[in-house]
Amino acid sequence: MQLKKEAKVISQLLSRSSFSSEAIREKLMNRRALVVTERLMSSKMIIWTPKREIVYSDLEGGTLDKVLGESTGTGRNFVSETAAVTSKNGKTRGYVTLVASLDQVQQVNMLMRRSQIVSLLISAVIAVILGIVFQKGLTRPLRVLTEQMKNFSLRGAGQEIRLATRDEIGDLAESFNAMSRKLKQYDEEQKVFFQNASHELKTPLMAIQGNAEGILDGVVKGEDVNKSLNVIIAESQRLKRIVEGITYLAKLENVEDSFGFQEWPLKQFIQESIDSVVALADQRGVRIVVDLKSVSAWKVDREKMKRALINLLGNALCYAESVVTVNGFEGTEQPFNRKTLIIEVSDDGPGFAPGEVEKVFQRFYSGDAGGSGIGLAITKAIVEGHGGSIVAFNGELGGAVFRITLPEME
Ligand SMILES: Nc1ncnc2c1ncn2[C@@H]1O[C@H](COP(=O)(O)OP(=O)(O)OP(=O)(O)O)[C@@H](O)[C@H]1O
Ligand SMILES: [Mg+2]
Repeated sequence: MQLKKEAKVISQLLSRSSFSSEAIREKLMNRRALVVTERLMSSKMIIWTPKREIVYSDLEGGTLDKVLGESTGTGRNFVSETAAVTSKNGKTRGYVTLVASLDQVQQVNMLMRRSQIVSLLISAVIAVILGIVFQKGLTRPLRVLTEQMKNFSLRGAGQEIRLATRDEIGDLAESFNAMSRKLKQYDEEQKVFFQNASHELKTPLMAIQGNAEGILDGVVKGEDVNKSLNVIIAESQRLKRIVEGITYLAKLENVEDSFGFQEWPLKQFIQESIDSVVALADQRGVRIVVDLKSVSAWKVDREKMKRALINLLGNALCYAESVVTVNGFEGTEQPFNRKTLIIEVSDDGPGFAPGEVEKVFQRFYSGDAGGSGIGLAITKAIVEGHGGSIVAFNGELGGAVFRITLPEME
């Protein structure tokens, strides 16, 4: 390719000069100054007339004979490229042949092969170094992460993983931290739950034991025996209620698909809830006022939602002076603009003591006049099982208000 390019340049150079040996010699004096790109080897030149007479050659006599000999076909020691020298009108004025020895070509080839091997080796070394660097950067955080995950324990404090990477591995570490925080919180809640549950169960059990022993030892006599037996029955019932409440809560929270949603007329399930507490309302002389606006039906788990409402109504009836109100209306949840059903149960009782609102939904929290403290925990679990939320606050008239918000389901 080099020879071809050079021959072309020279043929152009000669296209305008006269084709005599002197003129060519003069013209080619500055051949050294010819700039041909990628010049890898030196070449010799023969210039011919169209009749194959040599006008000019810078090959030594012996070599020239050899080159010419080769062109007739014996062995190959040279490579050559020939270009025609044409005048402006397209007439061939002669030819330029550039000759290089095959030895030289092979040397050049070897040189190129060697430089290819060297560059290959250099890029391999660079690739290995880069690989090591990247691998270090990648695997070190992963190793730290794996080590920390293996050593994770619920009891251990301050086990947050700190990685200086801002990439996906950093995100992974952050997710792991979030997960371990949740696990610890859950573990903490379980502990508190067991403590509270055992305390709550111990109280009625002790009352039962005390009364039974009193009867057996003869400390309780005559009329009091009946009283003690009634206490035993009442406390057993309370015990049964607590255990039933705990198992119900556990089922709500742990059994998947314990909810079955269906479209129900709002009026119907609210009325059915009220029917369940009507006796208590009569006994306490409290009126229940229902006010439902615009909503006709909603998708709920009817039995569970009834239970949630009965818990709220039961509490309200215990604390109300004279009236309990149930309001149902439609709302929109921002920022999703989703339709919601809002049910409010309020009473005209004393409301919550300061700081009580935060605690009322906790399991086993009960106020001075309260029972076992599991009712609102169940209500909350049911509402949340519907994807909704419940809040408590003191209403304008001072009594307690419980507001349930249920999002519309697909
Ligand atoms: N309408 C209300 N007015 C004032 N305080 C309330 C009202 N409803 C609930 N509370 C407070 O919240 C506490 C927890 O209520 P929750 O229904 O969970 O338990 P409980 O009524 O004490 O017992 P139970 O498990 O039998 O329902 C109550 O003990 C009471 O202090
Ligand atoms: Mg209650």
